[in-house]
Amino acid sequence: MTNPISTRKHGDVLIILSNNPPVNALSAAVREGLVAAIEQAEADDGVNAVVIACEGQTFFAGADVAEFGTPKAFQQPMLPQVVDQIEACTKPVVAAIHGTALGGGLEVALSCHYRVADPTAKLGTPEVKLGLLPGAGGTQRLPRVAGVEKALRMCATGAPIGAREAQECGLVDRLVEGDLIQHAVAYAEEVKGVRPIRKASERQDRVENIDPSVFDEFLKANGRKFRGFDAPMKNIEAVRIATQKPYAEGVLDERKLFMELMSGGQAKAQQYFFFAERKAAKIDDIPEDTRPRDIKRVGVIGAGTMGGGISMNFLSAGIPVTIVEMGQEALDRGAGVMRKNYESSAARGRFTPEQVERAMGLLNPTLDFDALAECDLIIEAVYENMDVKKEVFGRLDKIAKPGAILASNTSYLNIDEIAASTSRPQDVVGLHFFSPANVMKLLEVVRGAKTAPDVLLTAMQLAKRIKKVAVVAGVCHGFIGNRMLMPRQVEAMKLLLEGATPEQVDRVHVEFGMPMGPFQMADLAGVDIGWHRDPNRIESLRDALCSIERWGQKKGAGFYDYDEKRRPSPSPVVQEIIEKFAAEKGVERREITDQEIVERTLYPMVNEGAKILEEGMAQRASDIDVVWVYGYGWPVYRGGPMHWADAEGLTKIVDGLKRQEERMKPDFSFSKLLLDKAADGSKFTRG
Ligand code: 3HC
Repeated sequence: MTNPISTRKHGDVLIILSNNPPVNALSAAVREGLVAAIEQAEADDGVNAVVIACEGQTFFAGADVAEFGTPKAFQQPMLPQVVDQIEACTKPVVAAIHGTALGGGLEVALSCHYRVADPTAKLGTPEVKLGLLPGAGGTQRLPRVAGVEKALRMCATGAPIGAREAQECGLVDRLVEGDLIQHAVAYAEEVKGVRPIRKASERQDRVENIDPSVFDEFLKANGRKFRGFDAPMKNIEAVRIATQKPYAEGVLDERKLFMELMSGGQAKAQQYFFFAERKAAKIDDIPEDTRPRDIKRVGVIGAGTMGGGISMNFLSAGIPVTIVEMGQEALDRGAGVMRKNYESSAARGRFTPEQVERAMGLLNPTLDFDALAECDLIIEAVYENMDVKKEVFGRLDKIAKPGAILASNTSYLNIDEIAASTSRPQDVVGLHFFSPANVMKLLEVVRGAKTAPDVLLTAMQLAKRIKKVAVVAGVCHGFIGNRMLMPRQVEAMKLLLEGATPEQVDRVHVEFGMPMGPFQMADLAGVDIGWHRDPNRIESLRDALCSIERWGQKKGAGFYDYDEKRRPSPSPVVQEIIEKFAAEKGVERREITDQEIVERTLYPMVNEGAKILEEGMAQRASDIDVVWVYGYGWPVYRGGPMHWADAEGLTKIVDGLKRQEERMKPDFSFSKLLLDKAADGSKFTRG
């Protein structure tokens, strides 16, 4: 293997250059090369200063996450030693930062005595997102250089800061435009004689006499976001230690906290998920020479909540949108809602007023269906009904230009049947956005039997452009996400009749880490969605609620009662209906344990996920996890349902399902894949 670290001299400045694509991760070879290069600088009397820089798209983007859990992670020199050696160098060392200096990369930069950066660079400590904390002195050096409040926010949230902000807080010494290395060398020439050499670990001025309320205030403002996660609290603790102990002691505490996190299940799940998310973007079986189609203008049919939200994604990414409605009033309302959404985001600082105007300026609202002829991609977001969708696609077929991609935002319906209503099924694909479509990160890309490879590739690349995480799904009822929701919903309803309350079922889910439980979700989405609308036809508990207009939050009543501020409380009316309904159906009521709720609602989801895999409706188990984390808020620290099942143990899942099988009949049947894997000891997501 070639050495990723090379050196060259420019006068008396030694330039240490890393070339480890794609992101200059600090792999064992890079660490080894860095130490050797610093030793070279020390040994060479002709060297008076050093510059550390990276080739390619970015400065070191962190430790090599792929090495975690392998012997390579422990191969000497480890990162703490590397950064100590850089800082101990007797000749001034300048970091030249471009792209993203993240995690271990920022720790390398912090161990350098000076930092210059390209103005577009970003600096951050995203370890918390991998269930970790900066483990190479970062939690101790960052507050000493950038100040406690900045370090606290960066470490606990993982959000990076821009180079200008970094300069303002002292993290970057100089911003330089143009040839970064040339500027860094010039800077090194300026500082090469400065003694004593400035070392972050020796600074105390920014960590002394810190009012401890800084930490309490931070937690008060951010605590909710951290619910269930281990790593944020340990990051906060580590930064607090920087204000209490000298560097040498603090760094030992940091190491201990780092190792505690690293050996825990959350870090494994979050690191697994990091790669799962990136893998999801890859389609296994499309020819390598496939080229995406050019998308210059997008058409959206329907200016309702979904159509508007979908449009905003493209407008925000600078892609013009033609949006079509049937009536002027609906069109005006739709455009008005989009503007309002943009303006409220602008009020929260997410957009500038100019960006809002630019985005809205790209919108062409029209009643003229034929205007869609100029679009390269047309997405329908009309009423969820097969006949309606077929009619729309039949019309589109007649007017869309050759090569235009025709997409349906259906959440359940058969894409092949929709495609068959056109003369170009190869151009038809499902693009299932999740509501609210301008906010939710997930996009299910539904691959029909005849969808062309370049259509799929275009959809995946476009998703990245509009900042979505796309997952390919096959054609089946509800695709990946909603299909797995169904068994959960069925069992949750049955549990109510058998003796559980909506509050109990929801509490179990929230304690598990979901943002809300099945009944809170039903109330939010609308209990009446998909209801037959005949108040006299009462065949299920849901029919009973719908018949008295308990349709959820929008009616102030659903599974819960709501006050004027939409705060829920248990509903005696619902309890009465449940008991009455159970009596009519002859369901014997009993005490339901929390464990049974887990086994009846979460385990069947794993079983359904296994069926989805078995049938080839998902490319890989990790894709299912990506759907659930980004589409439904499954706690990322549990990795997603399939990773979670692996971590729990598949025999445990199967045993639990067997225990509940009788009660779940006739709605439940075992996945053969799940049974096989449990029997042979293999896993869905590893091994
Ligand atoms: N280790 C190993 N591989 C990495 C990596 C890392 N730190 N960061 C990115 N990669 C890989 C990705 O898996 C991907 O591989 P693939 O092409 O085979 O799928 C490739 O690099 C490109 O990554 P992205 O698709 O994410 O590229 P983007 O350009 O969209 O984003 C990035 C680049 C902003 C650097 C983003 O990859 C990122 O955020 N990386 C993670 C950074 C991070 O978390 N660093 C901290 C690591 S932990 C640490 O440093 C511990 C220390 O404190 C001891």
